[in-house]
Amino acid sequence: MNRTSSDFIIIKALESGVNVIGLTRGESTKFHHSEKLDKGEIMIAQFTEHTSAIKVRGKAIIQTSNGTMDTLIED
Ligand code: TRP
Repeated sequence: MNRTSSDFIIIKALESGVNVIGLTRGESTKFHHSEKLDKGEIMIAQFTEHTSAIKVRGKAIIQTSNGTMDTLIED
């Protein structure tokens, strides 16, 4: 079964040191990959048979088919 989604997730770093972390699919959900983005860098990713969730740490804009989100905290 092909578990790779045809949708892409676009992450744009708004500061240096943004982390894009891939979490495993299956019985346990663990970090399997961490990618560090510098300010202005963009990562284009998919959910795959290995990746069930993606965590973004740091200031970034995340665009998916569900819409666009940012990680900016408004206090
Ligand atoms: N080899 C990983 C996979 O196929 C690479 C990957 C896909 C990934 N999507 C990701 C890594 C999202 C980090 C975030 O699952």
